Order: sequence, then structure tokens, then C-alpha cells
Amino acid sequence: MLSPALSPSTHKRWIEQYGRNVRIQGLHPWDQRLLPLDPTTLHHIMKHTDIYEKPAISRRFISRFIGVGMLSAEGAVHRRQRRVATPAFSVQNLRALVPLVFNLSEQMKDRWLALAAEKAAEGRQEKGMVLDVANWMARATFDVIGLAGFDYHFNAIQHETDELFVAYRDMFEIGLSQSQEARSLLGVVFPFLNKIFPDKRTRVIERQHEVIHRVAAQLIQDKTQRIQEGEVSGVKYEARDLLTLLLRSNAAVDLPSEQRISDEDILNNINTFLFAGSDTTSLALTWTFLLLAKHPEWQKRLRQELLEVDRPADVTEDVAQEVWKQINNLPILDKICRESLRLMAPLHSSLRVATADDILPVSKPFVGPDGKLYDHVTIARGTTVHIPVEGMNLDREYWGDDAWKFNPDRWDNLPEVVAMLPGLYANTLSFSAGPRSCIGQRFSMIEMKTFLYSIVRTFTFAEADERVVKSNVVLVRPYVSGKHQDGSRCPLLVTPYIPEED
Ligand code: HEM
Repeated sequence: MLSPALSPSTHKRWIEQYGRNVRIQGLHPWDQRLLPLDPTTLHHIMKHTDIYEKPAISRRFISRFIGVGMLSAEGAVHRRQRRVATPAFSVQNLRALVPLVFNLSEQMKDRWLALAAEKAAEGRQEKGMVLDVANWMARATFDVIGLAGFDYHFNAIQHETDELFVAYRDMFEIGLSQSQEARSLLGVVFPFLNKIFPDKRTRVIERQHEVIHRVAAQLIQDKTQRIQEGEVSGVKYEARDLLTLLLRSNAAVDLPSEQRISDEDILNNINTFLFAGSDTTSLALTWTFLLLAKHPEWQKRLRQELLEVDRPADVTEDVAQEVWKQINNLPILDKICRESLRLMAPLHSSLRVATADDILPVSKPFVGPDGKLYDHVTIARGTTVHIPVEGMNLDREYWGDDAWKFNPDRWDNLPEVVAMLPGLYANTLSFSAGPRSCIGQRFSMIEMKTFLYSIVRTFTFAEADERVVKSNVVLVRPYVSGKHQDGSRCPLLVTPYIPEED
């Protein structure tokens, strides 16, 4: 059920065999779980965040790395954090970040052009260069969230040496390998073990926390001071990064003191944006490049559309805004993003736990295992619920027989039933749904579309010799088939685009 190689057919078989709400066996005999594949049931679960919370084990896993930020907080703490952060993600504030994202996408394009030129200068005959697109996208999205998130230059597109960059990268890598190892899992279930018998990973995490706290605390202190100085002098501190906006929103005079959050919470949320916002967007972009490599006809159509949006060589802030206005409305770019996010959602599934007994609605009555007809499902307090992001995104009954295939044209003529599927974005669960859905969805669209604009105009993509497959390691990541031990990679043949050849 959790393996992307098998899950689409597993979900299909279970729906045929058991209906749309399936009881599954968890880790031990009394760990009975619910897998809802019924949109009406899912709507109810995603909406009632007062009953359906994230399980303690997932919250502990996340908090161990990034503290209690919005991703892992619950109840009043979560509401307070989300309220303070929401203004930072307004359409207006995000638009102010467009030039910065544009700048970085152009920087990456130039870096790749320089690599291609180096290769040509070496006199090598082969046309393209094989780049690990997953690595490059991870570096680029780190740079974006560093600058847009807290005005910090990781400079990862240029090199991977910045102290804070290394601290975050090592910590997240440990998080990934930890998700698979028994001793570390024990540490998540029984956190006191990490205190009494710290393993190597715990020590590395502690060391990285120390770096992150030192650098980030300094940033928070500097910015707080500059905001205060601005208020005294009447010359407002104009930075638009999320940290400044969070500090400003938290200090707003009309915010009651009990709704303010601490500096520690601010830091945890900045960590959360890095954790939740960089890997996800970098995977979304990586999968889109792979899909374009596999579907050259779509790559060509997209490039033609993007080349029609011209711009001067010197990209000023106004030019970046003008280009963004145009690319945000390009139909082919938009449907490729939708299709890629539907088919290759970076999060495969999520978990919730029912904190109270509940009665769940269903879309149509069903015959239970006892042969009786039911118009609802009951759930007992403490039951874990699997939220099938991929399961719903690839459901053939709703999306059509070609639901498992890449077909951006489907967005021109969607089956009517798709409208009943829950989801923040395009009736998919890719960004989740309801009050706990992704706060950064619009931010990631700016990133995806801007990077695709700069890169696809300038380079062509083709599959390299190695076959790339999906693997679910916290997120759905690319691995070279048979070479999982090499870590997540997505090698693609990247060649500077020459118009006459198209
Ligand atoms: C393509 C990119 C992205 C995808 C696919 C994505 C997906 C998601 C999903 C599925 C959730 C719900 C998690 C769950 O229920 O377990 C979520 C939550 C969240 N995302 Fe994103 N995300 C993306 C980009 C971003 C960005 C760029 C940011 C921030 C700058 C961000 C910040 C967050 C935060 C803070 C939450 C927690 C919200 C809450 O619980 O109130 N995400 N995201």
C-alpha cells in the first residue's frame, strides 16, 4: 500500500473487493486502521481537524528535527501559529517574492550553461551532459526558501559549502535514513532512549541544531531590531521575506498578547518552511523534468509556449513581475504542472488519528462484511486513518481509464465527478485539503512555473541510460533502478537548446 510501484493496483483491487472504506491491519493485532478511498468520507476527515489529528509518532518524528512548528503542532498552538503565518503567504506578499525567485532560476540556468560550455571547451564530442536533476533542484529550492524565507544566502546553486546549508542538509538526510532504521524508530517511539543512550544520529542532530539555533537566533534578533528601529525612525524596514513578515505580524498592535508566538516558535516555523517547502517543491520540479524527458512532444509544446513570452536580457524587478503575470496564465505550462502534481504527488500519503468516536458519511450505501446495508462508517477513538493522496489522485473511477498516465490534455475536459474530490489544488490531494492543507501551495507554484520558464526555454531534456523509479522515503523520491544504495538521484541528459533543431 505504501510502495508507489504497487499502490495504484493495490488500491484498485481493494476498492473492487471491499468497497471504498477499507479496514487494514496495522503493526499489531489491535492496530486496526481505516483507509478511506471515498471522497465524502475524506472530506469529513480533512474538515474536522478537531477530531482527526496527526498521530503522536509522526509529530514526534517531525518535531525532533525542526521543533514544534505548524506541521506538527495541534489544537490551539497550531491555530495560533497558522494565524500569525497566514498574512506572510497572501497573494500580495508572495508576488513581492517573484523577482527573487526569477533571479535564482536565471542563476541556475547560467550555472548550467557554464557547465555545458566547460564541457564543450574540453572538446568532448557528445552533445548533452548528464545532470542529477534531483540534486540541482534540491539546491535551487533551498536557495529560494533561504532568501524568501529568511533573507539568508545559502548560495547552494553555486556550491554546497555554507555552514547552515550543510547543517540543514545533513539533518534532513539523517531524517530520511532514520525513517528506515530500527534503533532510530525506537528513539521516536520512546524518546527518552535518545537522552539516556544517544546514538550517532542523535548526536549529529544535536550538533546541527546547535548551528541552526546560533545562526537563526542571530537573524531573528537582527530583524527584530531593524523592525523596531524602523518604527522609531518612521522609515519602515522593507524586507519582504517570510521571517520579517512573521515577526511583523506577530508584533501587530491589534494582535492580543495570548495569540502571539515566541521567538522559539518563529524559529520552528522557519525550519518548518525549509523542511516542508524545499524538498517537496524540488521533487515536484524533478518529476516534471523527468516527465518532460519521457514525453518529448509535450516538452516541445511547452518550450514553444514559453519562448513566446519574451523578455529583455536585463531582468529588472518590473520585468520579472511582467513575465510572471504572463507565465502564470500560460495554458500548457499550467496543465503540465497540474498533471505532474497529480500523477507524481511528492507526498504519497499522510496519517491522522481519530481523537474521538465518530460517524463518517459515505458517498453511497454499501454492504458490510455482515451482509447488511450501511449508510455510514463508525470509527473508534484511537484509530489511525491513512490519507491516500496518491490513491485519490490516481483513481480511475473519477479521473478516467488513463488516470495512471501523463495526459495534460485531461485538464481541458475533466470528468464532472472530479469536482467532488477533496483537495486544495486542482481537486487533488497533492497539497492536502481543509484547515491543515499546505500553506505554501501558491509559493510553490511561483517557484515551479518560474524555474520551468527559465530552464525549459534554454535546455532540452532526455532520459539518460539509467532508468529512474519512484520510491516512498518520507516523500516520493527518484532512485536509479537497482541502485538504491546510491541515494536519491534523477540523472537526465540535458542539452542547451538550439532553435533550428526543434
Ligand atoms: C510542490 C510543493 C509542495 C507540496 C506538494 C506540499 C504538500 C503539502 C502537504 C500534502 C501538506 C499536508 C501534510 C499532511 O497532512 O501531512 C503540506 C503542509 C504544509 N506545507 Fe506544503 N507542500 C509544498 C510546498 C510548500 C512550501 C513551498 C511551503 C512553505 C514555504 C510549505 C509549507 C507547508 C506547511 C507549513 C504545512 C503545514 C500546514 C499546517 O499543518 O497547517 N509547503 N504541504
